[in-house]
Amino acid sequence: MNEPHGGKLINRIIPKEELDLDNIDLELTLDSDQVSEVKNIATGIYSPLTGYMNQDDLESVIAKSRLADGTPWTIPVFLPLSKADFDKVKPGSQILLKRTEGDSDVPFAVLIVSSTFTYDQEEYVQSVYGTKDSDHPGVAMVKSREPRAAGGDIWVFGELPRLHDQYDMTPEETRALFASKGWKTITGFQTRNAAHRAHEFIQKLCLEFVDGLFVNPIIGKKKSGDFKDEVILAVYSMLIRDFYPDNSTALGIYTSRMNYAGPKEAIFHAIARKNFGCTHFIVGRDHAGVGNYYDKLASHRIFDEFEDLGITPMRVSNAFFDKKSDMYTTQKTSPFGPEHWIAPSGTEVRRLIKEKDYDGLFYILRKEVLDEILKFDNPFVE
Ligand code: ADX
Repeated sequence: MNEPHGGKLINRIIPKEELDLDNIDLELTLDSDQVSEVKNIATGIYSPLTGYMNQDDLESVIAKSRLADGTPWTIPVFLPLSKADFDKVKPGSQILLKRTEGDSDVPFAVLIVSSTFTYDQEEYVQSVYGTKDSDHPGVAMVKSREPRAAGGDIWVFGELPRLHDQYDMTPEETRALFASKGWKTITGFQTRNAAHRAHEFIQKLCLEFVDGLFVNPIIGKKKSGDFKDEVILAVYSMLIRDFYPDNSTALGIYTSRMNYAGPKEAIFHAIARKNFGCTHFIVGRDHAGVGNYYDKLASHRIFDEFEDLGITPMRVSNAFFDKKSDMYTTQKTSPFGPEHWIAPSGTEVRRLIKEKDYDGLFYILRKEVLDEILKFDNPFVE
């Protein structure tokens, strides 16, 4: 099992009585992805962060892909504020954070503000996404917010909602699970999709070299056309039950938005999995990419810049069914050219399902996976 990032698993959950909540300067209702972010800080998925980034960390991440103390970190984690809210707080202020449950907003956490600051959005998006193009969904998300923020430690005092029951585990719980299975080496697998055959192929390829596989789909806001969360979980629970060796694979969710930040997000994804206890992390082709914004192997190369990351990337090149080799293989290992490949991709899977071209799906999706997907009236995010 791996050490947490920064050496210590953070836990920012305490009983409400231990907090002084009499002087609250601002109350904010967070959206579901922001609630996940607070949860990820509080349960240690974002160790060593103990709260929202302050200006020094945010600027250091943008400039150097490291926290101010030098720890590798690539995607800022901070609380954006409107101008009106920004003017209401200063260092020492307390912001009560609420989440929506049914028709009401429930307080569940507090931010003890240590700094308020503005940041340069153009520099931010260029560094994190490698582009300033507003057509990029991550860039659009950043530009939709005002460039103001508050940083500081957080404490969670309310009950955190568990999404998807037993699949929603804290790092403490995943570490206990891996230990109970007797796994010493574990590879994490990030995904935002229902499993196609290339996913399964690269997972099993990598499982050959470690004790356990942790399939860890991201659950949160995605772009229209991506698979819905419940479809991804239904597919993987069937697949692991019916097609993976017993005691080889665990399924758990990672609640977060997708940033589509390609290589920078590959590092961020690896850090979260390190905190879950993974020693290895699978990085395939165009990891966390979108459109043609990133070179398909940029997410492999970026790991060379982080030798102190503390988790081993398992780099796998483009995987596909190669008609001439008559097997599933990869770009690195096949001598034959693209004219012989049937190459699964999320886009291709979606197209074939929408067009009901089930024969075309044969080399791309298992029939059992297709059956699972077709149990849903609309498997895709609107
Ligand atoms: S991602 O946004 O989470 O990266 P996806 O769920 O499709 O998208 O990918 C999950 C993981 O599988 C990523 O590491 C990705 O690079 C890898 N991957 C997806 N398709 C392939 C493929 N055909 N060949 C090799 N790796 C792939």
